[in-house]
Amino acid sequence: MMERYAGIVDDYDAFVEACERPLPKTARVNRVKSSFDESRDALEDAGFGVEPLGWFGDGFRVEEPDGAKIGNTVPHYLGQIAVQEEVSMIPPVVLGNTLPLGDALVLDACAAPGSKTTQVAQDAAAVVANDDNFGRIAALRNNTDRLGLTNVAVTSYDGRRFPDALDFDAALVDVPCTSEATVRKNPEYRKPDAVTDDERASIVAVQKGILSRTLDVVNDGGRVVYSTCTFAPEENEAVVDHVVRKGKARVRSFDIGLESSSGVVEWQGEEYDAEVEKTRRFYPHRNDTGGFYVALLEPTTG
Ligand SMILES: C[S@@+](CC[C@H](N)C(=O)[O-])C[C@H]1O[C@@H](n2cnc3c(N)ncnc32)[C@H](O)[C@@H]1O
Repeated sequence: MMERYAGIVDDYDAFVEACERPLPKTARVNRVKSSFDESRDALEDAGFGVEPLGWFGDGFRVEEPDGAKIGNTVPHYLGQIAVQEEVSMIPPVVLGNTLPLGDALVLDACAAPGSKTTQVAQDAAAVVANDDNFGRIAALRNNTDRLGLTNVAVTSYDGRRFPDALDFDAALVDVPCTSEATVRKNPEYRKPDAVTDDERASIVAVQKGILSRTLDVVNDGGRVVYSTCTFAPEENEAVVDHVVRKGKARVRSFDIGLESSSGVVEWQGEEYDAEVEKTRRFYPHRNDTGGFYVALLEPTTG
């Protein structure tokens, strides 16, 4: 799988080497129930190592003592912390940096199991957390309950047909994807044939449908953060290009203090709108994280 991206990744050898290393474990303090200092002290007392993430004050890397798991600690049971991948913390931070969320109604179009919902809900007025997979709704509800978030409503619509009932100020669109960039947790993605062309094409159609519909239900002047955990331009820049060319969104730049690369504007003979260069690719070798793709969009209809 990694060879597929040799032509677009800077420092390909470092990329491959990082993809083959295990992923550092990370978690986030839930400010609704705790503070960074309180959670760090409780975890350190229990023998865990805690190292703050330089770019985001709520996040930290965890060293687990032999035989112990962060998910089995008292701060976790009490909902004071959430175990969450470092790159998964990026979209709510991008949203919060671009828009005051205190009075905002936010849609999380693909929310389960709720890592980003519970992060953004700490700062938003209210969140509608939607996921079309009814089987995953229980985990979403468990997480919002455990973390004590009382401003989250859960829905289960197909994001491609989300109803017109509400006007949103902002949205997260963390779409289903081929997940190739989780290769550090899922080594099967190292295989060249881990994802077939047909699988990719069918998921791209869903991604375009969900992003397009979400842009319709967010007010003009609002913000939409699109994200995936794949390196594939078909699922990333091509999806953003699709909505930009339809006149549904413009792309905004952002910088959260993590190293990243610009969106690619050409892939396998396709050329994308120059706007997509403002989207960001987070590669495993740049920040010692999983891989991720993030686009900050402003709806131009709604
Ligand atoms: C990458 S996961 C979301 C992870 C979540 N945002 C988090 O941070 O915990 C993608 C989610 O999209 C949901 N999904 C797939 N197709 C969908 C659709 N057509 N409409 C809404 N949700 C969909 C899946 O059930 C899955 O839970």
